[in-house]
Amino acid sequence: MKEFNDKVAVITGAASGIGRAIAERCIGEGMKVVLADIEGDALAATAKDLLAQSGSVKALPVDVSKADEVERLARATLDTFGAVHLLFNNAGVAGQGAGGVVWRSKREDWEWVLGVNLWGVVHGLRSFVPIMLAQDEECHIVNTASMGGVVGYEPSAAYHASKHAVVALSENLHHSLARQQAKIKASVLCPGWVSSRVMDAERNRPSGLKVDRNIPPLAQAALAEQRRQLEAGMPPEQVAGCVFAAIRSGKFYIFTHPEQKFLIRQRMEEMLDERNPTFPEEVEAASNSAENTDLESIVTHRRFSESRAVHIACE
Ligand SMILES: NC(=O)c1ccc[n+]([C@@H]2O[C@H](COP(=O)([O-])OP(=O)(O)OC[C@H]3O[C@@H](n4cnc5c(N)ncnc54)[C@H](O)[C@@H]3O)[C@@H](O)[C@H]2O)c1
Repeated sequence: MKEFNDKVAVITGAASGIGRAIAERCIGEGMKVVLADIEGDALAATAKDLLAQSGSVKALPVDVSKADEVERLARATLDTFGAVHLLFNNAGVAGQGAGGVVWRSKREDWEWVLGVNLWGVVHGLRSFVPIMLAQDEECHIVNTASMGGVVGYEPSAAYHASKHAVVALSENLHHSLARQQAKIKASVLCPGWVSSRVMDAERNRPSGLKVDRNIPPLAQAALAEQRRQLEAGMPPEQVAGCVFAAIRSGKFYIFTHPEQKFLIRQRMEEMLDERNPTFPEEVEAASNSAENTDLESIVTHRRFSESRAVHIACE
């Protein structure tokens, strides 16, 4: 898709970080935008800022983990703007509440993380793809996964599983649309560290899925380190630039941090050679000296962000 002026974009998780930057970029491209987010105040503030730039902004409080709310979003989009051309299934949660190793993550952690990160994408596709197919116009869907969705290790088991599922779902979508010769293209966005509020995702956890958590000092240190790296991460506007460059060129995989691709290569080579998965080597050294998952988090994330200064420019 190359022409965006006057077309309609729907963005979930639009009130912060990557979603907000994509929404701003859509406005800059002359699009009408529908902003969806669970955080009412931030959504209202974002809508106010964007309305100052364009009259074609609609904001709707939506919990993407709920099918009926995403369906309501689709209906509101058609009622307001009569069509949809770009869909960004972007809302996602991570951070301390995303849990850690699989057996220490609570059922509520799994339900919350899979509910938003995976079911949110499923609901978005089930509600919007039929509309796009019926329109029979050029459209594009971008699902936000993560580098955590393509590498072999990520400290939060629930986040890791959810993002791998989003990558698989997106590949499946790509093939299904192509086989049907639909005018809809798909992409999967796999960012590394991006400066956003994702470490504070707990703020939006529904009351029914809250858990009491006693975070030990080492884990707190790991989280502080992650927070520091996130703050130093890529500006969301740069991610939005990568996303639009990919939409324009019809590119499926969107990697914002190509310097981290060695982790993908390591995983694929291990599979092809039928070798057992290994952590990045520093993590392996650390876990040999102490069986400590929190320490693993610190080291892995240091490795992930080693060369963050190499941020690419997509445009
Ligand atoms: N920031 C990073 O380093 C990074 C890296 C890889 C992937 N991602 C992914 O990017 C996406 C955007 O995250 P971000 O970094 O901009 O974080 P962010 O917290 O700044 O923005 C996420 C937005 O999603 C919203 N949200 C949360 N739960 C929701 C729900 N149930 N329904 C609707 N909206 C909901 C939040 O209110 C927030 O506005 C996520 O899918 C995240 O997993 C982020």
